[in-house]
Amino acid sequence: MRLYRAKDYKDMSRKAANIISAQVIMKPNCVLGLATGSTPIGTYQQLIEWYRKGDLDFSEVHTANLDEYRGLTKDNDQSYYYFMYHNFFKDINIDMANTNIPDGMNPDSAAEAARYDQVIRDLGGVDLQLLGLGHNGHIGFNEPEEAFEKGTHCVDLQPSTIEANKRFFASIDDVPKQAYTMGIKTIMQAKKILLIASGEDKAQILHEALCGPVTPHVPASILQMHNDVTVVADEAALSKFDKFDL
Ligand code: GLP
Repeated sequence: MRLYRAKDYKDMSRKAANIISAQVIMKPNCVLGLATGSTPIGTYQQLIEWYRKGDLDFSEVHTANLDEYRGLTKDNDQSYYYFMYHNFFKDINIDMANTNIPDGMNPDSAAEAARYDQVIRDLGGVDLQLLGLGHNGHIGFNEPEEAFEKGTHCVDLQPSTIEANKRFFASIDDVPKQAYTMGIKTIMQAKKILLIASGEDKAQILHEALCGPVTPHVPASILQMHNDVTVVADEAALSKFDKFDL
């Protein structure tokens, strides 16, 4: 596991964007696994800036997002489809036909899970998976105590996740209670993983995930078992680390 210490959110975003750029430049037809949440927004903005300068070309890139709320349509401004389109895809030259996100409107959860796993298999797997970190240690929407061996599946969101994500909705009752997510197995099959974290509110869980025991209680702790993980975190998120950690 490689750890890059960033000064602040901006620096974290630039460092993470540099790693994604390197992937796109080295393999123009790569498969990027993408994430939502507030953490990756600056990374996407930096990539857009470099694309506009002419330094990046996404025309052959394929993407597979981690997750999607169940029951939200693509044009719902809280859906992850909407998030990805408005925060990234609309501003780069990606072919929307090459982008993939679980279909939150598919009522058949087993069929949607199987379809999405097949999409990822057909792409030849994910080359670089970007991950944020939930306050309870979740990655994608793999909540604590979920089995590590799952592929894409439907999850019941935990009250703490619903609480954390309510800031984006008109009221807590509007937050979906379920989501489709790549499973831990799917995430662990990515060739490379890039975990980003910013802010003091992530400090405790980041330390538990990277330095504590590997346990389904802290889903992100499984990343310790992957052989190509890069972590980019800012000083605030690293405030529980001492110099001997990692
Ligand atoms: C959501 C997403 C995760 C994300 C997490 C943290 O629950 N499903 O993929 O990592 O939130 O979000 P934030 O970056 O806003 O802290």
